[in-house]
Amino acid sequence: MNKRQFLKSTIGLSLTPSLAELLRQPATAEDEEFWAQVRKAYRIKPDYINLESGYYNILPQETLEKHLQHIRDINYHGSYYMRTTQFPDRKSMSKLVAEIVKCSPDDLILTRNTTESLDMIIGGFPWKAGDEAIFAIQDYGAMQDMFEQVSRRHGVVLKKISVPNHPLNDEEIVQVYANAITAKTKLVMVCHMVNVTGQILPIRKICDMAHAKGVEVMVDGAHAVAHIEFNLPDLHCDYYGASLHKWLAVPLGVGMLYVKPEHVSKIWPVFAENEVAAKGIERLNHLGTNPVHAHLAIQDAVNFYRQLGPARKEARLRYLQQYWTSQVRNVPGIEVNTPADPKRHGAIANVGVIKLKPAELAKQLFETYQIYTVAIDGNGVHGCRITPNVFTSTMELDQLVRALKELA
Ligand SMILES: Cc1ncc(COP(=O)(O)O)c(C=O)c1O
Repeated sequence: MNKRQFLKSTIGLSLTPSLAELLRQPATAEDEEFWAQVRKAYRIKPDYINLESGYYNILPQETLEKHLQHIRDINYHGSYYMRTTQFPDRKSMSKLVAEIVKCSPDDLILTRNTTESLDMIIGGFPWKAGDEAIFAIQDYGAMQDMFEQVSRRHGVVLKKISVPNHPLNDEEIVQVYANAITAKTKLVMVCHMVNVTGQILPIRKICDMAHAKGVEVMVDGAHAVAHIEFNLPDLHCDYYGASLHKWLAVPLGVGMLYVKPEHVSKIWPVFAENEVAAKGIERLNHLGTNPVHAHLAIQDAVNFYRQLGPARKEARLRYLQQYWTSQVRNVPGIEVNTPADPKRHGAIANVGVIKLKPAELAKQLFETYQIYTVAIDGNGVHGCRITPNVFTSTMELDQLVRALKELA
């Protein structure tokens, strides 16, 4: 591609007033024609069907172009930008994220990802030897590792529970956590949406139960922000971390951390902030020099998300999940490891073919059917995690259904 062609293609891609117009249409979750237009907002790799949006969400071209522009702008202004507008800009971007999760902007900071957000709480919690912490074996490995480290370092006792893949009701899940709490429990970690199965957990009920026993709750919201709509203060949790490069489709390396104001002063920051200058949650937000252009792209990602419509996006993602799971749930030899109840899932589901190990299933899906997924094999979950996105078509999911039936 010569320079002229390149300019033409990027200009063409960034000039999409028609996209804004398209997104204003009152289309439903099932309107394939509308979603086919949304798909055109993305550059989709034709080599395989991407059903692994759980790791990160590729950006629509418009957000990508704006992000590239932020890189150019910051490179142009150089240190002048870094010494002047960088900090107020970061504040305005974190305010936009606070609007998405409907919490006070004073209670939320930008981090690099969920790992950083939650590990900061686990590592900075004022532990005493003999204190107990609870988490699930289905929780994300990095946070489990951090708990293991504080266990070795501070003598914290770890209690591991297992979340049922097909709970009868919320109370069954709440009870699993409640059973592990003792007089020594200080902190419970719980996933808003379990990463290996996509199951949505009853966070508020778990928090209310734990608080009644004097225990704080930290929520791993990696998959929930901009995927399902919720009001963060209504969850009643004490801490909430998420990755914005997942469902908000912000460039890689941006996350958020919410801390209830009454807990801010007791957490030891990983990177110490000047305690006199830092007020409130800012004391947990010393990042050092970092790729701030990614922060600036939050405004573009939020713009796209708002135009798509949070309720409509959630409905489409849930519809896509049900579109394929409903066709294989009762097929002999296939096991769906995610509940059918629509309030217990969004886009993600986990599926196993009983006669195949998950790694073999993922390999065959990719090599024979050109479907990219990720294998999960352990802690009561054996299958591939299937994560469609707003650009996924039902035709692609038909290919998945055909593949699963043939393999089973
Ligand atoms: C539930 C859950 N928590 C935490 C993470 C870690 O996210 P990150 O690598 O962005 O920190 C992931 C990543 O997939 C996840 O699924």
